[in-house]
Amino acid sequence: MVVVGSGVAGLTAALRCEAAGLTTVVVTKARLDDGSTRWAQGGIAAALGEGDTPEQHLDDTLVAGAGLCDEEAVRILVTEGPDAVRRLIATGAQFDESAEGGLELTREGGHHRRRIAHAGGDATGAEISRALVEAVRARGTRTIENALVLDLLTDADGRTAGVTLHVMGEGQHDGVGAVHAPAVVLATGGMGQVFSATTNPSVSTGDGVALALRAGAEVSDLEFVQFHPTVLFLGPDAEGQQPLVSEAVRGEGAHLVDADGVRFMQGQHELAELAPRDIVAKGIMRRMQERGAEHMYLDARHFGAEMWEHRFPTILAACRAHGIDPVTEPVPVAPAAHYASGGVRTDSHGRTTVPGLYACGEVACTGVHGANRLASNSLLEGLVYAERIAADIAESRTGNTLRARVPQPLPQSDRPEHPLLPPEARFAIQRIMTGGAGVLRSAASLSEAADRLHHLHAEARDALDENGKTAEPGVDTWEATNLLCVARVLVAAAQRREETRGCHWREDRPERDDTTWRRHIVVRLNPDRT
Ligand code: SIN
Repeated sequence: MVVVGSGVAGLTAALRCEAAGLTTVVVTKARLDDGSTRWAQGGIAAALGEGDTPEQHLDDTLVAGAGLCDEEAVRILVTEGPDAVRRLIATGAQFDESAEGGLELTREGGHHRRRIAHAGGDATGAEISRALVEAVRARGTRTIENALVLDLLTDADGRTAGVTLHVMGEGQHDGVGAVHAPAVVLATGGMGQVFSATTNPSVSTGDGVALALRAGAEVSDLEFVQFHPTVLFLGPDAEGQQPLVSEAVRGEGAHLVDADGVRFMQGQHELAELAPRDIVAKGIMRRMQERGAEHMYLDARHFGAEMWEHRFPTILAACRAHGIDPVTEPVPVAPAAHYASGGVRTDSHGRTTVPGLYACGEVACTGVHGANRLASNSLLEGLVYAERIAADIAESRTGNTLRARVPQPLPQSDRPEHPLLPPEARFAIQRIMTGGAGVLRSAASLSEAADRLHHLHAEARDALDENGKTAEPGVDTWEATNLLCVARVLVAAAQRREETRGCHWREDRPERDDTTWRRHIVVRLNPDRT
């Protein structure tokens, strides 16, 4: 089988498949540890603490998800989560321990309990990535690095038969190739690079969702892009990956304040700064609008130097690298794109609507996150659902039971061609998306974004030469093309959802509308026309 992607979900799927005796190849776009997992700070949520239960974790997840979680998918996550974390520890990941010897647990937004395990203070993802990469190397699992997977191969019956890929430099032979396999696991991570400022690394270009759309798989909930409330503010024109300031900093008692030092989350939610992420992001944006400010501040001076150095060394170093010392001054923060709560639609075994194609981790929409992911549930989802996929493939139950949904008739989403875009189109897409489909949206802003994306597509289509070629095929052109594909579907879904719910915030439709919109927007492109 082929696993595409090498974060927590991909490498866990590969390790469990190999352990079950399945020959596995991991294909990854850059190096094994170059994805989003490495950047995760706060930790991994699971009911591991005294007095905590999966039921309480379930409750918090459902509340954060704003009425759109699949309760069964969440129940699987929270009940299988604690053992999945124990297996991760057995694989070699070392989490921080308390003085008494058990796991040291912290809090983050939306959690009523301390249930976030962390490593290296605020370097949880780096430790998980290290442990899994070492385990894969120790096992001798076959890996292909620097290879961008382009499209799904299918047989005459429409079943998965492998993937095509584009191999890039770094000492390897350039060119296009294929890996044949009866099962493909998409674990390609997110699409944060569709926006100008994001916590995601440059490789997060929505490749898996674009592939799935081209293959005719169903994609769901793309409008629910989570904006992390506290990203280090480096100026209004900052672009690309921005430094995260983990929710765990608030979990340990940091306050959000405006330029006058006034706390503003109190009275907005019973959990104040530790409300679910969408509520805090909105609270910050509202205060920014009221004050005409470009950012707010996170004040944790009261931690003192020792706590900053011991508990949050990564964040401390990032702030100081940008000339800000959190020990002596409040940290300027603003929301930035962080996580795709939607993705390729799967059942509880990670099966998509295309037989033999699976998805797990951020690329997937298992139903766990609903309209807004609960903090630190993402690493857990990657672990739990990767294990379930491996079990499903090992039991050869690759038959598909996911019932297809009636796709939504979306404006501009069902286009027959995917002409390659020039690399510089990436920046145009990011600016269009940030301006029109960012943290605060409206019918007008979305409509303008849709028109401008359509124009980019039309330009590329019109540039097709007699050989059907536009830009020179390469990683940059494929990434830009994938970004445009996911951006157009995201905008179309956001236009369609005429309400405010979770992290989808429409200023022209400020209320949640449970009568009409307690349902999912599902998109499927017609593969015959791609
Ligand atoms: C954080 O550390 O604040 C990010 C955690 C997450 O996205 O789940």
